[in-house]
Amino acid sequence: MLQTMHDKFETLFGVKAEVSAFAPGRINLIGEHTDYNGGYVFPAAIELGTYGLATKRDDKLIQLYSNNFEEVGMITFTLDELEFKAAHDWANYPKGVVKYLSEQFSDIDHGFNILVEGNIPNGASLSSSASIELLTGWLIKQLFTLDLERLALIKIGQRVENKFIGVNSGIMDQFIIGMGKAEQAILLDTATLEFDYVPAKFGDYVISIMNTNKRRSLTESKYNERRAQCESALASLQQALDIASLGELSLEQFEQHQDLIEDEVKRRRARHAVSENERTKKAHRALAENNFNQFGKLLNESHTSLKEDYEVTGIELDTLAETAQQVDGVLGARMTGAGFAGCAIALVHKDSVKQLENEVSKQYIDRIGYAPSFYHVGISDGVKSL
Ligand code: GLA
Repeated sequence: MLQTMHDKFETLFGVKAEVSAFAPGRINLIGEHTDYNGGYVFPAAIELGTYGLATKRDDKLIQLYSNNFEEVGMITFTLDELEFKAAHDWANYPKGVVKYLSEQFSDIDHGFNILVEGNIPNGASLSSSASIELLTGWLIKQLFTLDLERLALIKIGQRVENKFIGVNSGIMDQFIIGMGKAEQAILLDTATLEFDYVPAKFGDYVISIMNTNKRRSLTESKYNERRAQCESALASLQQALDIASLGELSLEQFEQHQDLIEDEVKRRRARHAVSENERTKKAHRALAENNFNQFGKLLNESHTSLKEDYEVTGIELDTLAETAQQVDGVLGARMTGAGFAGCAIALVHKDSVKQLENEVSKQYIDRIGYAPSFYHVGISDGVKSL
């Protein structure tokens, strides 16, 4: 792919690329919708991701082209025109990164050309947007030899989502894409940003990624609504409890005080945030002890909580996860990422992978009417130069 990209780069811009980089996508093993509630998350970067090539220009123009959105064509603007523009489509993600980086670094005094191409399926909840944010930042860091730490770039990526795009996401996606390591997951405490690398080794079991292939719609507004519901539940609990986030509560403490949250829906949202945080800590322990059965059970419980208390699954994700849970050789399955559509993961014995795919495909096609997709990919490094 990279050689073809280099050829395309020369055709598009008439010069050879100076720098190149890769940013992965991610799965989240467990710890869903906990990252904006001060809880733990347990993601891993994957070998699917976004590749990018870049050169500096002599003028102030910025030209962006994606092989994944050829119909959108070349997006062109100057260093002085860094506002969100709906017509700029996918390019708003890199544009937001350019905006915040150039506000911080006066070294960015020229324009540049960037070509990108990714193999993360679009809208699959595998973080193609955080991947392109971190990729853009890394290319610019290389071009202008910026003194930019990984954590600072991660925070810029999150700021692009929150302030430029308008999704109030937490820091999980940018963090794992910035800090990931091959064959390691990261247990991240989103309250303190302390983190540990944990070998993502499951003995004879592997992680299968199952894509609903459903186009996402209204995900952003539903996501922001969930976050607002958790914040409101927290405010109710703070009448009696001295806590800064739901992540500080044990399930027992939550149950003692849950009546302070009058609204039944908000109470369930908060219960998910608290119970999921406990499951994430338990899953970390289970993995450290090679207790894969226990790990799988926690995946199943996570899915149920996301379905019943958080209500972010839907028939497509439920069909994938619940069918997978019944297959011989599967220890557990759950949706991954924001939900509503996108992907689920299953922890499956390496000899049962085909059976999982066959049984899940059959049930899914029967109920939903079209086929899911499956991916088996390794755990990757975070963003890096090539
Ligand atoms: C999206 C967001 C993350 C996180 C997950 C849900 O991927 O970008 O910050 O909240 O959803 O766990």
